[in-house]
This record gives sequence, structure tokens and C-alpha cells, in this order.
Amino acid sequence: MEYLIPILLVVISLGCQKSDKPFYGIKTAIVEQHPGKKIMEMQCYVCHNPATPEENRIAPPMIAIKNHYKKNNISKENFVKEIQKFIKNPVVKNSKMPGAVKKFGLMPRQYFSESAIRQIAEYMYDNELERPVGFDENHKNIKGNGIIKVQIKNILRYSHNYINFLNGKFDFTYRNFYSFL
Ligand code: HEC
Repeated sequence: MEYLIPILLVVISLGCQKSDKPFYGIKTAIVEQHPGKKIMEMQCYVCHNPATPEENRIAPPMIAIKNHYKKNNISKENFVKEIQKFIKNPVVKNSKMPGAVKKFGLMPRQYFSESAIRQIAEYMYDNELERPVGFDENHKNIKGNGIIKVQIKNILRYSHNYINFLNGKFDFTYRNFYSFL
């Protein structure tokens, strides 16, 4: 019987620890809402939204920017500094993305507060960013032999669309034809 009391105490104390759990739940919810994420979505996604289909893009998606800046084991501090440097003075000399400049033209000079850019850049450095559909495929495409696979996939995709289009068209003409009868 004396043994039962310490055992009961242990059980009770474990029970008490469990009651802390909801608190941790709230904590993780706060961590997920990094302030940089929100600012990035509000201030940068007008142009850098990963959900914008490729044909409507006016700037590269944020993950492409991250991949060009987070290279060679760059420290978080230097990553933030490099992004700050470009935003303060968006000129070719400060650009690390000549392809993007060629495709979209230089990013327009806009005012963003230093602390907002810091928070955005810190968020970008520490977190996985959203990948646009087909992002990895396109990257393999640039890097080498994946290009053939991607091209074949595209041909199949487009020929499939074309066949659907033709089917639709024939269907349409048949329907017109039948309506005459
Ligand atoms: C009005 C559209 C627009 C907005 C808003 C915008 N950008 Fe850009 N940004 C561009 C374009 C276009 C490019 C690609 C051309 C270039 O690299 O200059 C670009 C490129 C970049 C680059 C890569 C620059 C390089 O060439 O090395 C960074 C970094 C960047 N943007 C950060 C941001 C951040 C952070 C925000 C939000 C605070 C933001 N941009 C908001 C249009 C925009």
C-alpha cells in the first residue's frame, strides 16, 4: 500500500504535464505565422506570387530568388544583406539574376522599410517556400538532360490538348449536322 502513493504521485504529475499540451499547440501556431511571410505575401506577391501561371508572370517566383541568393553556404546575415542591397538599389550591377532581368526587365525601384525586408529575407532563408507547379521540371530543364524529358512531356501534353480540341470541334460539327436532320 505504501508503494501506491508514490506511483499515484507520478501518475498525477504526468497528468499535469499533459494539461500543458494546448499551450504548446498555440506556440507552434505562432511560429508558423512568421511576420516575414505575411509581409512578403502582402508586399511582394503582387509580382512574385508562386501561384501565378508561368504565362502571366511579371517577375520570378520567390523560390527562384531564394535559390539564386542562398548559394555557397551563405550566412543568414549576408543573405539578408544581399537582398537589402538589391532592393535599395535595383540596378544590373547588384543583380544576381541576369536571366530574370532579361525576361522581365529590372525590378522597379520601390520603397520598402529595412525592417520589413529583413523579416522577409529571414523568413526566406529559414523556410521552405512555395513551389510553383512544374518548378522542379523547369529547373532540370535548365540544368541538363532533363530537357528532353520535359520536351516530350510538353509535346504529349499539347498534342493531348490538340486532340481534345479536335474532338470538341468534330463533336460540335456533328451536333450541327444532326440538328439539320
Ligand atoms: C512591381 C513588381 C514587383 C514587386 C512588387 C516586387 N518585385 Fe522583386 N522583382 C520584380 C521583377 C520584375 C524582378 C526580376 C528582374 C530583376 O531581377 O530585377 C524582381 C526581382 C527581385 C529580386 C532578384 C533581383 C536580382 O536580379 O538579383 C529580389 C531579391 C526581389 N525581387 C525581391 C523582392 C521583394 C523582397 C519584394 C517585396 C518586398 C519584391 N521583390 C517586390 C518585380 C517586383
